[in-house]
Amino acid sequence: MSAKTAPGPRGLPITGNLLAFRKDPLHFLEQSFREYGELVHLRFGPSRHLYLLTEPDLIKEVLLTKQQHFRKAKGLQTAKAVVGEGILTSEKEKHLRQRRLMQPSFRKDRISAYGEAMVRHAERMTSQWETGQTRVITEDMMQLTLDIIMETMFGSRLEEEIVGGIGRAIDVGMKYVSTRASSFIDLPASLPTKSNREFQEASKLLDGVIYSIIEKRRKQPAGEAGTGRKDLLSMLLAARDEDGSAMTDEQVRDEVMTIFLAGHETTANTLSWTWYLLALNPEAERKLHAELDSVLQGRLPTPEDLDKLEYLQLLLWESMRLYPAVWAINREVVDEVEIGGHTFRPGDTIMMSQYVMHRNPAYYDNPEEFRPERFEGDFMKTIPQFAYFPFGGGPRVCIGNNFAMMEAALLIATVGQRFGLRLADGHPPVELEPLVTLRPKNGLSMIVEARG
Ligand code: HEM
Repeated sequence: MSAKTAPGPRGLPITGNLLAFRKDPLHFLEQSFREYGELVHLRFGPSRHLYLLTEPDLIKEVLLTKQQHFRKAKGLQTAKAVVGEGILTSEKEKHLRQRRLMQPSFRKDRISAYGEAMVRHAERMTSQWETGQTRVITEDMMQLTLDIIMETMFGSRLEEEIVGGIGRAIDVGMKYVSTRASSFIDLPASLPTKSNREFQEASKLLDGVIYSIIEKRRKQPAGEAGTGRKDLLSMLLAARDEDGSAMTDEQVRDEVMTIFLAGHETTANTLSWTWYLLALNPEAERKLHAELDSVLQGRLPTPEDLDKLEYLQLLLWESMRLYPAVWAINREVVDEVEIGGHTFRPGDTIMMSQYVMHRNPAYYDNPEEFRPERFEGDFMKTIPQFAYFPFGGGPRVCIGNNFAMMEAALLIATVGQRFGLRLADGHPPVELEPLVTLRPKNGLSMIVEARG
């Protein structure tokens, strides 16, 4: 049966469902799922067919068992404007080669070694904190995870004065990519429109940062730049093709930019959402504090403590359930494929939304309720694999998933041991902003309270 026969909202004559989607993507997708079920046919513009798929076993087919029929969809191809042909955007052999090359930097034993830097940066940040201070927590978390990715992956530090500029450049890049990804007319990026100009300036700034990291490392004596160091950058620089040739500066740039962006913004958002949920749920905060006090007894956390910080783990899972930093994954059909009895044609897009799935009442009772305890025991084994997929799955599963989970846990433990955070008085209701990642719109202002 052709997938086109799947039900879906009617939409407008030319633009189809595009405007409704753009106005409020999360609400639109959730409504579509509620009204039309596990496979919803959507149309963006006159000829783009999208299918919202919310059935875990069929998602598994797209991401894992039949993944060779798909490629990354338009959104990520648009992201090439920022991250080039790095591991996130490349396909087939190139992707496989880059993934093999980078994998060792993300192995569990290597990641444990990054724990010390993670805790140190969190401690440094909070050394400035005082009771009663109002902080823009979303910015603090962004800077913290940026500092950590720079040190652990590239053995590098950012000059303080450019951090703000980087944050703004990333915002411009995210908005640009999100808008282009969901449009159906591809205006050339070279047109001198305001958004194109702003985007080019932002890219220039980010490029400047990345190329200077590479250049500095290349200038170091061979031993230091290559075998002496073990971070991701040295592995990229030391990598050789079968014919013995090294990666060009541009190839290294694409990989560095990918890790630089994919490796901090998602974790920062997850942390911000977790602080937000704790502020709204004092009982959960009390439980967290009790656990931190009893396991750590006042000392700083290490990766070895994480197994014992069970409630913290439940808390992070629940936070990523309600506010998954990556709120949808898209794939484009490359050659005709059958999924769940429906035939999909080349060019069709399949959209799998973590946000929608994670609020699916078939797997989560009272899905809107924040309740970390729902993940207790072997709950995860009682639901299908892809009913919870904050990090995606299959051969393109997030390479940084263990890094991110460890980082989030260590940072919440380090900060939460000493401070509580409240929403600032009169804080406007927090809205969700689904750009490339899911963020609290206009940031989160919170008041710091030192703990007893
Ligand atoms: C809470 C934090 C994070 C979340 C929710 C997250 C989520 C994801 C998801 C859903 C994907 C799959 C995208 C797709 O299949 O289209 C992905 C891919 C990726 N992530 Fe993460 N991520 C996080 C943190 C990180 C970190 C810390 C790093 C690096 C240090 C990282 C690097 C990557 C890379 C390189 C890919 C592409 C992998 C490939 O295509 O082979 N991510 N991430």
